[in-house]
Amino acid sequence: MTADPLVRVTDLGKRYDAGGLWRRPGPAAVAGVSFDVAAGETLALVGESGSGKSTVGRLLLQLETPTAGEVWFEGRPLSGLSRRALRPLRRRMQMVFQDPYSALNPRLRVGEAVTEPLRIHGVETHAGALADRAAELFRQVGLDPIMTRRFPHEFSGGQRQRINIARAIALEPRFIVADEPITALDVSIQAQIVNLLQDIQDRTGVAYLFISHDLGMVRHLSRRVAVMRAGRIVEIAPAAALFERPRHPYTRALLSAVPVADPRIERTRRRIDFDPAQHPVTPDSALIQAAPGHWVLEPAQ
Ligand SMILES: Nc1ncnc2c1ncn2[C@@H]1O[C@H](COP(=O)(O)OP(=O)(O)OP(=O)(O)O)[C@@H](O)[C@H]1O
Ligand SMILES: [Mg+2]
Repeated sequence: MTADPLVRVTDLGKRYDAGGLWRRPGPAAVAGVSFDVAAGETLALVGESGSGKSTVGRLLLQLETPTAGEVWFEGRPLSGLSRRALRPLRRRMQMVFQDPYSALNPRLRVGEAVTEPLRIHGVETHAGALADRAAELFRQVGLDPIMTRRFPHEFSGGQRQRINIARAIALEPRFIVADEPITALDVSIQAQIVNLLQDIQDRTGVAYLFISHDLGMVRHLSRRVAVMRAGRIVEIAPAAALFERPRHPYTRALLSAVPVADPRIERTRRRIDFDPAQHPVTPDSALIQAAPGHWVLEPAQ
């Protein structure tokens, strides 16, 4: 028996309507994206603004419909599933967003917010049990359970992101898309939230797609890293290989922009520019395996 990956995407593509009278499809926001996520692992998705990272995240969770390709979850293709058939799968995939402020309903007590998914999915409806569960979820994300009766405005950004994470883990998902979950937070808080996500993974075996444009931050957090540019994955590799032997010129340019902790190396760090005109990507370009598990986008011959 071959084990299916937890998540698989094959040749995923998305075109948004360009607008206008004929609703013509616009340029591809995402094209030819393929990768797997194994149970319990973290795959980081990095790349500049507009490269298509969030779109991939939304396609994975079926918050948007792909215009090409397929998403597989636990070995099942998701396209064509009815809402009803999707419902139990949705419980097992969740999302944490970048902005901890807008993600919470300001009029809902935070204890109710974190257990709302349990009510929506009919897992638990008894008020006392929900309150117990809220307290338990608060403990799991390092918040005092006494605070479950407060409202979102009474919390700091870091605390609100903990509440969002509590809400995301309420249904014990197997997969979480974390879309820039620390970008909006103070630098001093960022490491705490990353540690919390890692603790949760150690405890529950949840897998993450961790979206970030900060390569430095994903280095110690992810087993593998995928680099996106202009809607395509240009390189995907184990984290150590990607950081030590980046192969695509775009990855090299991205890495050259990351400050290094060692001042001797930092002093001589040189930024490399990436010139897209020198590395044209065509619809026929494909990922080629350069080393075990290390794939690089090559122009078609
Ligand atoms: N709802 C939409 N309608 C039309 N175009 C969209 C929509 N959402 C995204 N796009 C376009 O798709 C492309 C990819 O956007 P996406 O938000 O996925 O990038 P991103 O890598 O997440 O960027 P950022 O780092 O800024 O969050 C962009 O060109 C964007 O303008
Ligand atoms: Mg985004």
